[in-house]
Amino acid sequence: MGCLSNREAELPAEVDRITRPAAPPVADLSLPGLSLGGHAILGPVSLSIGAQQTVALTGPSGIGKTTLLRILAGLQRHGGTVRRPDRISVVFQEPTLMPWRSVTQNLTLTTGISCREADRLLGQVGLAGRGDVFPNRLSLGQQRRLSLVRAFAAKPDLLLMDEPFVSLDDRLAKDMMQLFMELRESHPVATLFVTHAAPEAHRLADRILRLEGTPATLTELAGIELAGPEPRTAGRSASCQHPV
Ligand SMILES: Nc1ncnc2c1ncn2[C@@H]1O[C@H](COP(=O)(O)OP(=O)(O)OP(=O)(O)O)[C@@H](O)[C@H]1O
Ligand SMILES: [Mg+2]
Repeated sequence: MGCLSNREAELPAEVDRITRPAAPPVADLSLPGLSLGGHAILGPVSLSIGAQQTVALTGPSGIGKTTLLRILAGLQRHGGTVRRPDRISVVFQEPTLMPWRSVTQNLTLTTGISCREADRLLGQVGLAGRGDVFPNRLSLGQQRRLSLVRAFAAKPDLLLMDEPFVSLDDRLAKDMMQLFMELRESHPVATLFVTHAAPEAHRLADRILRLEGTPATLTELAGIELAGPEPRTAGRSASCQHPV
């Protein structure tokens, strides 16, 4: 890591997770608003994501969550300002694997990791010995796990995930969340993930944001800081059921 600025150097090394003084943000977004197809979708929106924070983005269907994530990822034109790190990984609902490449190549080609490291990661996601097969030989759950581990293998500074646990049965969704927590443990990364599911948001996130209104604006749900996310030690289950 490079030298810290004076301001950053004043921040405590360990950010207290309860009062949570502002960690240096790794990404900021400031939008005057956004119209698509002649409709005002987003109103003025500003957002900062602190280093190693996990932020859940919630809101009704069609409100603009994916659009906001795409703006952060640099995939959507807009008239605002966005500051993002160079190293970003994006996980979409559907695994965006290369069907003509083996499982191992899907891991190594886009991330630059070695085959040995790929083997280790495949073992971590329950795919030991499957490195030579093509992705279409994997179940959807296995493909989603591969996508998630590939995102982490790229060692991003910002991870963006659009409903990464949706349309999986309960057990698979829990497995994926568990895997996310394990990967986050070994590579802490600022994360924004879109979800419709309150338990997911409460289980994984430090902060929960909600998009609502027409055009949509962003609200930070109060109180989550006091409850806090599941401790950053993988292997525990949580049963929060608060509405989001
Ligand atoms: N390229 C586009 N042109 C016109 N309208 C668009 C375009 N992309 C998205 N929209 C509209 O913008 C709105 C926000 O879409 P977006 O996909 O961001 O919603 P969302 O909150 O992610 O919804 P969901 O929860 O269903 O995934 C929707 O009304 C959608 O129809
Ligand atoms: Mg969406």
